[in-house]
Amino acid sequence: MARVFNFNPGPAAMPLSVLKEAQSEFVEYKDTGMSVLEMSHRSPEFEAINNDAEATLRRVYGIPDTYAVLFLSGGATLQFAGIPMNLMFHRHAGYLIAGNWSEKAYEEAKKYGQVDVLASTKDTHFDRYPPLSSPIDQDLDYVYICQNETVYGSMAKKLPQGGEVPLVSDISSMFLACPLDISKYGLLYAGAQKAGGPAGVTVIIVRKDLIENGPARADICPNYMDFKKQAAKHSMLNTPNTFGIYLCGKVFHWIEDTGGLVEREKANWKKVNTLYDYLDHSKLFRGLIVPQDRSISNVVFTTDNKDLDAEFIEGANERGMVGVKGHRILGGMRASCYNAVSQKAVDTLVAYMADFERHNA
Ligand SMILES: Cc1ncc(COP(=O)(O)O)c(C=O)c1O
Repeated sequence: MARVFNFNPGPAAMPLSVLKEAQSEFVEYKDTGMSVLEMSHRSPEFEAINNDAEATLRRVYGIPDTYAVLFLSGGATLQFAGIPMNLMFHRHAGYLIAGNWSEKAYEEAKKYGQVDVLASTKDTHFDRYPPLSSPIDQDLDYVYICQNETVYGSMAKKLPQGGEVPLVSDISSMFLACPLDISKYGLLYAGAQKAGGPAGVTVIIVRKDLIENGPARADICPNYMDFKKQAAKHSMLNTPNTFGIYLCGKVFHWIEDTGGLVEREKANWKKVNTLYDYLDHSKLFRGLIVPQDRSISNVVFTTDNKDLDAEFIEGANERGMVGVKGHRILGGMRASCYNAVSQKAVDTLVAYMADFERHNA
């Protein structure tokens, strides 16, 4: 069976060469006589895999030594609680609400202290990224953003200027999509299952000085969620997702071997701009996000007719393009174009859109 064009929002397409390499090593990893799945996480072989994954990610993003890198489990969702538990020292943080993922993070954070909404675009159905007009209160423990809102398809093109207040960013759906200046952040995190590898690994990049005194809520923070303890143990406080980390490491190498994040960024904007350009001229489809805030990863669009949307999605599936159904809270369509989605996949989707439009406009 041929592989489909995979526009899933996550878990999502992985580079074929990574899958094949993992397949070739699946039963026997190097000369260990066993699969990575069967290996002790305390073995030198796995330690090497873990260290290599971290070192490769550090090179790919240019992560300074002043930052710790963690590979945890529990998804990005667990970090909605992990972040306030570790960083809300004065029980006061500020959140930008740009869509459902920042909203979920905000709801969770409220369990741990006072959380101010610094800006929100809920009133306009999250059709844009919230601008931050007022200066940031310097007493806040951190400012939180979801830098790319996967469901609505918006992206922050500029970061809030927080002064001394650390910036915390959920980069799940723009992980490895483009270079980032890590030094501008206090903490970045991402569920790996979009462009980083399989589900079950969450990558956290955090300034060491923010965690050096242990979690803000040491009274309630589980050991597992204690970033200081996890950093001291290289994410191996308990049994980590060994196979997931192994696969992420392979994806990080693939990024490095294919020109790094600079090349990824060019390829990703080319893909999504192919779709945005089409949407801007279409008489049937329209994109939902204002042009200046469009995502590098998730292109969200609709015909404004539920039946036609359903017909389009069914036709896409029949033609080997899967995952274009929009998120259940929004409907319509969404094409997620992470690193492993090819330009050919996007061109094929746009050709189908044009054909569908000819028959239905
Ligand atoms: C931006 C963003 N944050 C958080 C999450 C939640 O991730 P997880 O399912 O790993 O908890 C998602 C899931 O799609 C997401 O897109």
